[in-house]
Amino acid sequence: MKRIWSMAIVICLVLVVAACGNTDKQASGGSAKKYKFGTDATWAPQEYMENGKIVGFDVDFLEAVMKEAKLDYELSNVEWNSFLAEVQEGKKLDGGISSVTINDERIKSYDFSIPYFESTNMIITKQDGIKTALDLKDKKIGVQNATTGQTVIEDLFGKELKGLNKYENITMAFMELDNGGIDAVVADNMIVNEYLKNNPNKQYKALYDKTNFASEFYGILLPKGSELKAKLDPAVKAVLENGKYAEIYKKWYGSEPDVKVLLD
Ligand code: ARG
Repeated sequence: MKRIWSMAIVICLVLVVAACGNTDKQASGGSAKKYKFGTDATWAPQEYMENGKIVGFDVDFLEAVMKEAKLDYELSNVEWNSFLAEVQEGKKLDGGISSVTINDERIKSYDFSIPYFESTNMIITKQDGIKTALDLKDKKIGVQNATTGQTVIEDLFGKELKGLNKYENITMAFMELDNGGIDAVVADNMIVNEYLKNNPNKQYKALYDKTNFASEFYGILLPKGSELKAKLDPAVKAVLENGKYAEIYKKWYGSEPDVKVLLD
């Protein structure tokens, strides 16, 4: 019995020491704080994995912004649902960049940097019968769960729409589209265009619907009340204005961005 007690005490001591070590590590980390950023790297060409590294437009853009703000950071790959939860909580992640659209719903739970990218949802399909978003009504549609792809469809047809399939990531939705399990995928235009470009033999077409899918703007995602907002906004503005943004945009998209629409 005595032995059990002393063992228990030893275990408790070990746990306490481990816990202290942990907080220590989190608080120190050198003189300057290293901010922890996350991204759901399944959204090419904005953020994706290549040879074990996270790459993409957002990755280069964040690097430029953090350099401008003179802040140290690290970027990790976090699955979309955890990404949203972890940025909101602000413990495991101090912020995120993941093509996140700024909208009224999210503004209730997050802070955003000023906008850095214009986007819109787009439809990808093989079917000739689908010409606008309204033609998706009785179809099987794939979206990434908890993205604006989901909300634009729910706004059009209601939350109970039977044909709406929500996937953990867009790769799964594209796979299902390839297999013929669904009729169309709705996602951000840059991602749809990239998929089309990489799959020229699959006879897909991509459709804009400016009437039913509004223009959206991405922001760097932050926990509510984050001290980073005041640090990042001027840096985002500088990167947009000093030509660095256009340089990164051209690298990934081969064209000149409309910076003015972002700064207005
Ligand atoms: N722009 C869309 C949204 O904010 C989709 C973003 C998804 N990003 C990603 N890396 N999976 O809802």
